[in-house]
Amino acid sequence: MHLSVRDVLLALCLAFSASFRPVWGRPATFEEDFRITWSDSHIAQIDGGRAIQLKLDPGSGCGFASKRRYLFGRVSMKIKLIPGDSAGTVTAFYMNSDTDMVRDELDFEFLGNRSGQPYTVQTNVYAHGKGDREQRINLWFDPSKDFHDYTISWNHLRVVFYVDNVPIRVYKNNEARNVPFPRFQPMGVYSTLWEADDWATRGGIEKIDWSKAPFYAYYKDFDIEGCPVPGPVDCPANPKNWWEGSEYHRLSSVEARRYRWVRMNHMVYDYCTDRSRYPVPPPECLAGI
Ligand SMILES: *[C@@H]1O[C@H](CO)[C@@H](O)[C@H](O)[C@H]1NC(C)=O
Repeated sequence: MHLSVRDVLLALCLAFSASFRPVWGRPATFEEDFRITWSDSHIAQIDGGRAIQLKLDPGSGCGFASKRRYLFGRVSMKIKLIPGDSAGTVTAFYMNSDTDMVRDELDFEFLGNRSGQPYTVQTNVYAHGKGDREQRINLWFDPSKDFHDYTISWNHLRVVFYVDNVPIRVYKNNEARNVPFPRFQPMGVYSTLWEADDWATRGGIEKIDWSKAPFYAYYKDFDIEGCPVPGPVDCPANPKNWWEGSEYHRLSSVEARRYRWVRMNHMVYDYCTDRSRYPVPPPECLAGI
């Protein structure tokens, strides 16, 4: 049998990316794939390490991160947010290159609210150190009642943020219009729970009610499929990676319909239409979806 270098690398790459898929052996677990980055006294593993509980109290918030970084792929988690009065708290799930000056970052931030009022999900995209691309939607369900899926899907052509398989944001590769796209730096997967009552809820007017503390958020079903870096060198550019497939080049008609529905009914802020900040809309805003 003859195997070329390319075949071997491809097999290694598949093995690496497959090792995060339940079908291949094991689901990602907290113990093996993540590390605590901030305040381990506030993070508890439950359900044999398959789920974790994050705590925020007047002493501290907390956070965790993946042990490895990835270049392209799909990351998803199920999250159950703080119930009741969560005003002033922010729970985040994001990818970050950890490179200060030329940071790439893809953010989901869940902004708490007063009891009974809808959570806001803020997304942002940093590419080559430039962010300021906030969008906000109000969720169409109570994210503290049950676990829901939050996914970041990332290939050479686009980044899509999904909530329960509904695309809520698409950031296309508009390098042809000189808009930077995160394409060169691997990113780690991060989660944090912290106090941000100087801005999170109604622009900082609503403060945390510490009499309701401690606050808890829950994470489970960590799923990472992507090219780990360091890892097989030709993995990130391999067009055969499933996330580079043609069905992931643009939204399907069902997805496009859901995306329009979110934008029409649930979007509460879009930097693209904020004329006080951007009298001239940034070039990626003119490019459509
Ligand atoms: C909180 O609820 C109010 C009232 O429904 C809403 O306008 C706001 O967008 C919600 N989210 C935040 C983070 O304030």
